[in-house]
Amino acid sequence: MEKTNGKLDITRQYAFAEEIARLRLNKKYCIVTMGCQMNVRDSETLCGWLSLMGFTEVKAREDADIIIYNTCCVRENAENKALGNVIWLKELKKDKPDLIIGVCGCMMQEKGLAEELKRKYPFIDLVFGTHNAANFPEYLSRVLLGGERVFEVWDSQGSVTEGQPALRSCRFSAFVNIMYGCNNFCTYCIVPYVRGRERSRKPEDILDECAKLKDAGVKEITLLGQNVNSYMGGGSAFAELLKRVDKLGIERVRFMTSHPKDITDELISCFGSLKHLCPQLHLPMQAGDDEVLKRMNRRYTIDAYMDKVRRVREVCPEIGLTTDIIAGFPGETRAQFEGTLRAVEQARFDSAYTFIYSPREGTAAAKYPDPVSIQEKTEWLEELIALQLGITADMLKRQTGKTFPVLVESMSLRSESTVGGKTPRGLMVNFPGGRDLIGRIVDVRITGAGKNTLKGELEE
Ligand code: SAH
Ligand code: SF4
Ligand code: F3S
Repeated sequence: MEKTNGKLDITRQYAFAEEIARLRLNKKYCIVTMGCQMNVRDSETLCGWLSLMGFTEVKAREDADIIIYNTCCVRENAENKALGNVIWLKELKKDKPDLIIGVCGCMMQEKGLAEELKRKYPFIDLVFGTHNAANFPEYLSRVLLGGERVFEVWDSQGSVTEGQPALRSCRFSAFVNIMYGCNNFCTYCIVPYVRGRERSRKPEDILDECAKLKDAGVKEITLLGQNVNSYMGGGSAFAELLKRVDKLGIERVRFMTSHPKDITDELISCFGSLKHLCPQLHLPMQAGDDEVLKRMNRRYTIDAYMDKVRRVREVCPEIGLTTDIIAGFPGETRAQFEGTLRAVEQARFDSAYTFIYSPREGTAAAKYPDPVSIQEKTEWLEELIALQLGITADMLKRQTGKTFPVLVESMSLRSESTVGGKTPRGLMVNFPGGRDLIGRIVDVRITGAGKNTLKGELEE
């Protein structure tokens, strides 16, 4: 069935939301978000709709009348966690039969999963996928007002849907989508299957959103896409967009994620020329061996990767480089994994997100022979983590004595008189301070380093 979602549909969705609002149902909702920033941003849209309906957010699932799980399926443990959590809700519903339970996000786009949930778990009321999430008000209205169980997942993406509301989770730092989906089909990755093909938002829509955020007092925006360098089909479109966003004068601009094969010299030069672009780049390396990279379908060699790293550092020596690495890709040998260790040694990342390869049904690599045991892969991963921890510690130590502007994000979990925030490079600093500092950018002198974070003092 061909289904598209354009402007007209959104008007209809507002009508559903308003109809619910008129009934003054006073529901409380809780959204549990798993996975990456894409999901975080999608949850903010759901919160936007729910708040238009007159509903209020609660933090604890026990206090909610509506619970929605926004799921991730990038690795098997993410998926197991999501399922485990959803099944646990059955107990809550025993005490609260009117509780509405919804599940959405990437995992719902997996073939046959929605039907399976419908059959196996009668306590789930609502399921929708990433491609039809913009119809949320209609689906919720059918559940709330029609007493239906709604399980609707569309197979393919429509065009970009503009005009949805959003209730942002942070008042001073915001995610802004610039594109959706991915065309790269790295052989291990399920994202292109659950998020569909690349679709870019129009520059005007993005700039308009950024300008409104600035007016609302937002100090930091992060432009989001699975591969921002292929924004509008690639070429210089992303660098152009970045330059226009920079001109808006928002204090801090970041973006993620960049695919190494697509990062252009024009984009790299932005790190030297744009006033508000923070010196931070997430550049997933994945592996350090050419044969493994080839079988991953990454379309770069490790030399080409290192060359980009070198060029970025030439333009911006203080750049904070971060990366993603997979240990134990099917068929990866010990010698090849040692290539990853050498590459990590050479690249000197600020930090790395490291994962053991997890087979995802439907992806090419899931069918590759995979002789190395999970025990051995776990040892490789531990070795990799230890190596990176040493590099991180070194880099952190070298920050002592310097002063950075820090955007204060939150109170420390451990102390009522300590706050935490990030340097332009993305390093976390904890320092003595009160709640009034949250959302402000203040100068902090670095006095020491922990394992993953810095310690500092407010500079008068
Ligand atoms: N679009 C982003 C990454 C999205 S997924 C990019 O291209 O960089 C985030 C990270 O999860 C990936 O970079 C990869 O390191 C990891 N990942 C993805 N699929 C995986 C799998 N099947 N097993 C283990 N790690 C995986
Ligand atoms: Fe997955 Fe590769 Fe696309 Fe990133 S670029 S989302 S790793 S397929
Ligand atoms: Fe997970 Fe979907 Fe992001 S699979 S990593 S939440 S795009």
